[in-house]
Amino acid sequence: MTKRIMQSDYMHWAKFKKPVRYALTTSEVPHFRMDSLPLSLAELDMDGASHPRYEPLRERIGQRYGASVKQVVTADGTSMANFLAMASLIEPGDELLVERPTYEPLLGAASFLGADIKRFDRKPSDAFRLDPAAIAQAMSPSTRLIVITNLHNPSGALAEDAELRAVGYLAAKVGARVLVDEVYLDATVPPRRSSVHLGPEFIITNSLTKVYGLSGLRCGWILAEPELAERMWRLNDLFGVNQAHQAERLACIAFDHLDEVLGETPALLDTNRRLFNSFAASRDDLQSMPAEHGITAFPRWSGGDTQRLDDRLREAYDTSIVAGRWFEMPDHFRVGFGLPTVDFAEGLSRLGAALDDLR
Ligand SMILES: Cc1ncc(COP(=O)(O)O)c(C=O)c1O
Repeated sequence: MTKRIMQSDYMHWAKFKKPVRYALTTSEVPHFRMDSLPLSLAELDMDGASHPRYEPLRERIGQRYGASVKQVVTADGTSMANFLAMASLIEPGDELLVERPTYEPLLGAASFLGADIKRFDRKPSDAFRLDPAAIAQAMSPSTRLIVITNLHNPSGALAEDAELRAVGYLAAKVGARVLVDEVYLDATVPPRRSSVHLGPEFIITNSLTKVYGLSGLRCGWILAEPELAERMWRLNDLFGVNQAHQAERLACIAFDHLDEVLGETPALLDTNRRLFNSFAASRDDLQSMPAEHGITAFPRWSGGDTQRLDDRLREAYDTSIVAGRWFEMPDHFRVGFGLPTVDFAEGLSRLGAALDDLR
């Protein structure tokens, strides 16, 4: 058996990297200020009580995503939601299929749980499309779980219902489940439906982090069929008691004002994507599919290892990108569209200068 991974190097880097002025690394929209909503301290229940499986929050999540309260498990961000979902389905040695490239902590969690990890590719030549045929080829009768992100991190590619259905069908044939991390999905315009409606083999994770600018609330959740949801709640008792209740109350308030929380975010992302698309099209050293959805893109650089590009950006331009090595594709890099447009445009112009330097 391969050695279990006991840490996430990517997450450690993401938390503690040296800050720069133009962080094209960011995959979150600007933080939303809760104090811009009408709320008083009295609404936060400051009496110290905690509330197991706090139903008012689960009702709001269920209502928003078309799931029943019994299907909703709340968790500490999408991160813990992913971990709980995997831990409740995977035993050491179980076969699990993960897309490549992917978000590194998903791989780390699978490794930590002792899974036998198999991979399938989302190819740049195919615009990082979710290809059910690639999954069919990589899976076996022992596959227990298929793990994907939608929108895809890093590329931002959207998987359509037809592709997801085909994956669900493959999974159901061998009694496997499909874990879909939808943390970027709500950035689509018009909003795409959560895959929870595609069938009981689908397990969804999400949070208020990326699209709503509320990472500080750590409001994450899992949507799963009720029996599995119950198993996750029981497993979660090993990890903690309840979530911080004031954060749960604030999350309810955010759900009650979700349109205000979203505000100008879709317009901001649209503008930044257009800027990125014309920037990428103007450069013969970059190959990128047009960014149509979401908060990230994953262009290829003809200059080789993009760590070199990030180093140059940091040392000379107070700017950063996510080097492709974090996604197992060193000649690509990830750009995030979450900065205010003036900063994003300046970041792109500095990226252009660094690319010119390294020609
Ligand atoms: C695919 C994916 N899932 C989960 C997370 C973490 O989300 P949260 O802050 O809700 O834990 C990220 C953050 O980068 C991500 O890209």
